[in-house]
Amino acid sequence: MNDRYAAITGWGMYVPERVMTNLELSTMVDTSDEWIRSRTGIETRHIADVREATSDLATRAAWEALHRADVNPDDLDLIIVATCSPDYHIPSTASQVQDHLGASRAGAFDLNAACSGFVYALSMASQAIMSGGASKALVIGAETLSRWLDWGQRDTCVLFGDGAGAVVLEASDRPSGLLSYVLGSDGSGAELLILRNGGSRQPPRGMMPPEGSLYMNGKEVYRFATRVMGKAAREVMDRAGLTADDISLFIPHQANLRIIESAARHLGIPMERVFVNVNKYGNTSAASIPIALCEAADSGRMQPGDNVCIVGFGAGLTWAAATLRWAPPEAAPDTSLPRRLMRWSRYPLARVKSLIHRAERKIDGFEDELERRRQLVERARRNGHHTGGAAGSNGHSPNGHAAASVSKVEEPEKAVTK
Ligand code: COA
Repeated sequence: MNDRYAAITGWGMYVPERVMTNLELSTMVDTSDEWIRSRTGIETRHIADVREATSDLATRAAWEALHRADVNPDDLDLIIVATCSPDYHIPSTASQVQDHLGASRAGAFDLNAACSGFVYALSMASQAIMSGGASKALVIGAETLSRWLDWGQRDTCVLFGDGAGAVVLEASDRPSGLLSYVLGSDGSGAELLILRNGGSRQPPRGMMPPEGSLYMNGKEVYRFATRVMGKAAREVMDRAGLTADDISLFIPHQANLRIIESAARHLGIPMERVFVNVNKYGNTSAASIPIALCEAADSGRMQPGDNVCIVGFGAGLTWAAATLRWAPPEAAPDTSLPRRLMRWSRYPLARVKSLIHRAERKIDGFEDELERRRQLVERARRNGHHTGGAAGSNGHSPNGHAAASVSKVEEPEKAVTK
């Protein structure tokens, strides 16, 4: 029996300020508040500002979670960002967050399982802690899918919103955190929810919407979701030795109220024990479950000792479910002014630290370049200004092109000896 648990000790969320109502959407595409509400339950969604990228949303949620847990970013071993709308393909959004937080000891990577991503990431990070590989981890679900929507396509643009949610996990000997999990994938459904451009199959030309926008077969995804939600939830409860009656709160992926209601019916869980906030945020993909988790915790919908079931589904097609024992730290975080000031001062300091690292890297590079030129001049002097390609290599790149290193080596030398 494992006696090392991965307790959720902090949680935080962030949604962009800008709220877009159904009414506003109805001025942009042929839709109506009535249609959107009745088919999806969505009333508003939050849309990221042009200056806000996924890592910015993720960092704000992470700050809250770290404050609540009273964990210093320097003590984190692992950061996972679940996202399918990263800042860049390379590098990872998680590395950006690691830098923003000043989490100098943490390994960081992105995980893409679309809307199921947070449950995947939570399972992976919990396993890392339970196995002793890590002691403190930060798991974030963050998305700016609004960037990949075609705002002329009424069947997709009304559904999604932007946001981020985060949890801090810490090793604990108190039974808490992840009890069981199930991860699933059926790639034969790839075409049903897809962003075609920008990957190796369709390289990043014309990546911006409408060419590079999210495509969805709503009816098929709906059928898949209603089938898989109940099934995954049942499976994960069985694995934990729990029944639906033992679950105090069911937190499903917030994609569509009708899908949530159907899953609850299938499981025999009354809607009073189901958390719903899709009306406020729409479908925030990997951020939807952690945002719901935060709101459920802050509104007292989860009490210490409660069993909670979370279930996600999404592009891939993927699905993931987990049961959790909710057992937050007994002591409330210290919110005294000096403590708050100390916590908040970490982040401007992290910025400064990051700027110093960047400057150091530039200086190092500059010094290396000076040294390289000095050696070239030295060699040229020894060879009596004969360059003739002797210093170059006849290397070939892996894809068969002759390497350009010969002429490259000569360039600085010419510049210096002119
Ligand atoms: N406003 C008005 N009409 C719309 C519309 C909108 N925003 N979007 C689509 N329509 C129209 C369609 O063009 C279609 O018209 P047609 O019958 O003339 O061709 C009609 O509405 C389809 O209506 P209906 O069959 O009743 O829609 P639906 O009940 O299947 O609901 C979805 C559509 C998209 C809400 C639903 O299929 C869904 O939620 N699917 C799952 C989506 C999801 O969860 N995705 C994320 C997964 S992580």
